[in-house]
Amino acid sequence: MNVRSSGTQPVRLEQDVVLARQTTRKVAGECKMRLIDLTKLVTAVSELARNTVVYGGGGDMDWQVLEDGGRVGLRLIFSDNGPGIPDIRLAMTDGWTSGSGLGLGLSGAKRLVEEFELETAPGQGTRITITRWT
Ligand SMILES: Nc1ncnc2c1ncn2[C@@H]1O[C@H](COP(=O)(O)OP(=O)(O)O)[C@@H](O)[C@H]1O
Ligand SMILES: [Mg+2]
Repeated sequence: MNVRSSGTQPVRLEQDVVLARQTTRKVAGECKMRLIDLTKLVTAVSELARNTVVYGGGGDMDWQVLEDGGRVGLRLIFSDNGPGIPDIRLAMTDGWTSGSGLGLGLSGAKRLVEEFELETAPGQGTRITITRWT
């Protein structure tokens, strides 16, 4: 697997969620992604970027355009140095929120992409990696 190009979009403030969506659309242009797949990916980005701001205290969205054999993919990595997620199973449950959300962000994002990886450590932060192949 090759990384064709990469970059970082800071996700610190509420308005950065919009920039994360825009960056995703721009980078996806390199991948010839179908509109339906791009729409799913951007929806996942909204949820994960918002979590990064609201729960993670801000962080980054690193992006990578991947090449693996014939296929091209877009990988997005949301990382923060916030409190971490104490109970991943609970956090991934539809409808569960520790705040005042709908509790559908993590579980929804997972369903919208082909690869979803969540790494977290209490007191150290959270890293969520999603990948959508074209
Ligand atoms: N980056 C993060 N850092 C710490 N906790 C998080 C993070 N992302 C999600 N969580 C936790 O997972 C829960 C579920 O997230 P989500 O499904 O997006 O629902 P909601 O945003 O509506 O609360 C959140 O309420 C929060 O407790
Ligand atoms: Mg959320």
